[in-house]
Amino acid sequence: MTEAAAIDARLFRQALGSFVTGVTIVTTCDREGRAVGLTANSFNSVSLDPPLVLWSLALNSLNLPAFREAGHWVVHILTAGQRDLSQRFASRGTDKFAGLDYTPGPGGVPMLEGCAARFVCRAAFEHEGGDHAIFVGEVVDLSIGAAPPLVFHSGQYGQMMPAGLRPARPDDADTGEFGRYFTGHLLGLAYNAAFDDIRREYRRRGLRGADYTVLASLGLGDGVTREGLIERARNGGVALPQEAIERLVERDDVRDEGDRLYLSESGRAHLVELVAVAEATQRRFDERLTAPEMALLHQLLEKLAADPGTA
Ligand SMILES: Cc1cc2nc3c(=O)[nH]c(=O)nc-3n(C[C@H](O)[C@H](O)[C@H](O)COP(=O)(O)O)c2cc1C
Repeated sequence: MTEAAAIDARLFRQALGSFVTGVTIVTTCDREGRAVGLTANSFNSVSLDPPLVLWSLALNSLNLPAFREAGHWVVHILTAGQRDLSQRFASRGTDKFAGLDYTPGPGGVPMLEGCAARFVCRAAFEHEGGDHAIFVGEVVDLSIGAAPPLVFHSGQYGQMMPAGLRPARPDDADTGEFGRYFTGHLLGLAYNAAFDDIRREYRRRGLRGADYTVLASLGLGDGVTREGLIERARNGGVALPQEAIERLVERDDVRDEGDRLYLSESGRAHLVELVAVAEATQRRFDERLTAPEMALLHQLLEKLAADPGTA
């Protein structure tokens, strides 16, 4: 009996599962030029110079012959939003590419879009690896996306969370300190940070907050009735006060033509400047958070914004 045979297979799998990985889809085309591929988390870097990566394929994979003969293959690092794609490529005997958009790479290898990163590889070596074949490829082209990656741990999908998070409210926090730990308080501070410059800009232009909202709603497409505009804003979760519309009509920032509202030249100029200030704020925020943190923040804020309240 070899030493390896003494290792309990179930425990071995379980222990391996405690190693967190990303998830990839590796694709190539077979001898007939058909696109093939599978989900693999055995991907790893090997060498920086030359740029080499590896992954391993089960010897019982239906795709083994295709990868053995391939001159190129492509590794796609999946994003947190691509769980379904991972499942699709982890199932056997289905047309994994049915209805999928992809572009042909070197030798016609299928390249999927919208991944966290993509490595186009020239097949370099194949090594024996027990019940798997280890493929080493030389990276000949790559691209990187901004979306956060999908992760895999103990048989479950997950997504990145920054390390070292403090509890939202320490166990020993005084009940009198509730205000500090109220999520609404922090949202308020963040709201002020987000809107300080914009507020200053619309005030400088003699406008109020609701006026900015009216201009922004009209910016999505003018020539609407008052009711249409109010309805549009409501669908976006914003209440538009009627008096703000009338104020802007009076100031000639909005034209009322036969009951349809249009941005006037001055209204459009206000909006362009206000949007420029908002974009500058967004750029500053983008510098404070990583792309995955920003994506996570947006998802969490959307969840909170959907809270129905008790009314
Ligand atoms: C997260 C995840 C990671 C996987 N990693 C690998 C891997 O590295 N190598 C492998 O051969 N199979 C891996 N699999 C299993 C294959 O995706 C699965 O067996 C697939 O059906 C193989 O397809 P094929 O037989 O058409 O090649 C993984 C599956 C999942 C869900």
